[in-house]
Amino acid sequence: QLMKVFVTRRIPQEGMRILTQAADLDVSVWDSDEPVPRAELMKRVAGINGMLCLLTDRIDAEVLDAAGPNLKVISTLSVGFDHLAIDEIKKRGMRVGYTPDVLTDATAELTVALLLATARRLPEGVDEVKSGGWSSWKPLWMCGYGLSGSTVGVIGLGRIGLAIAHRLKPFGVKKLLYAGRAPKPQAAEVQAEYVPLDTLLTESDFIVVSCSLTPETKGLCDKAFFSKMKKTAVFINTSRGQVVNQEDLYEALSSGQIAAAGLDVTTPEPLPTDHPLLTLKNCVVLPHIGSATYSTRGTMAELAANNLLAGLRGTAMPSELAL
Ligand code: GLV
Ligand code: GLV
Repeated sequence: QLMKVFVTRRIPQEGMRILTQAADLDVSVWDSDEPVPRAELMKRVAGINGMLCLLTDRIDAEVLDAAGPNLKVISTLSVGFDHLAIDEIKKRGMRVGYTPDVLTDATAELTVALLLATARRLPEGVDEVKSGGWSSWKPLWMCGYGLSGSTVGVIGLGRIGLAIAHRLKPFGVKKLLYAGRAPKPQAAEVQAEYVPLDTLLTESDFIVVSCSLTPETKGLCDKAFFSKMKKTAVFINTSRGQVVNQEDLYEALSSGQIAAAGLDVTTPEPLPTDHPLLTLKNCVVLPHIGSATYSTRGTMAELAANNLLAGLRGTAMPSELAL
C-alpha cells in the first residue's frame, strides 16, 4: 500500500524529484504557483498520510480533521511554524518537519540588504533618477544613516539573528545589543550585550527584529515600542508581520517619531497596494523574500521532502520540530 502525500504548491524540482522517485509514495500536487484555495485544501487532504505545506497554508484543527487519522507527518517548507496549530498537531500524535539552518545565510543577507536599502534610501533614489527628480549632486539631498560607529539592536538572537549580527559587524558597528527571552551563549561570537528591551530601544540606531511569532511577540512593536526609539533610528523586520502593529508603525513613520522602516513581512501578505504604509517614502516594503535565492529554495525543498519521507518511513527526520 502506497503512502499518500499532498504537496500544497509547485515546489523546486530538488524536492519534487525526491518525492516522485520514492517507490512507496503516491504523490499529489496542487500544481500552481498560487496558494491552494481553502476549500480545495480541505478536499485534497482527505485520507492522506503526509503533507508538504507552505507558510501560506493555515494548518488548523479543521484541516487536520478533514485529513483524518491517517495523517502522520506535516513537513513545512519554512523555518517559521506559526501557520501550524502545534497544540492540535501534538494532540494527534503527528510529527512535524521544518527547514531551519539552510535558509539562515540567505535570510541574514536579505536583512542586511534591506537595512542598507532603507537607511541609505535606495528605492527612493532609484525613483528620483527615473522620474527626473535628480537635478544635481546636492550636499543636503538624499542623506540617510550609516552603520559605521552605530549601535545595532537585534530582537531575537537566534540562528538568523546571530547571522545578521555577524554580517553587520564588519560595517563598523560600535555596539551590538540584543534582547529576548534569555541570554544566549553564542552572543559572545559577536560580542553582543544582553539588555532589557527598553535599553535596546532607547540606545539603538538600527533595530532588527528577528524573533519568531509567538503569543509573547505578537504586536510587540507597538506605539509604546516606537515611542522609545530614537528619532533617527531605523526599524527592520524580516521575521513575521504580526510582530508589528502596523497602524502604530505608520503613525511613528509619518510623524517623524522614527526615521525609517524596512519590512520583508507584513500583515496581511500581500499588503494591499493602497495600504497607507506604501505611501510613505521612509518605508521600504519587500514581498517576503528572505530565503529567496535559487539555491536556498532548492535546498529547502530537498530538506522538506526528506523530512516528509523520513517521517512517513518512521526514521529520523533531518530537521524535526521538537513539539
Ligand atoms: C520564511 O518566512 C520562513 O519561515 O521560512
Ligand atoms: C562624492 O562623489 C565625492 O566626490 O565627494
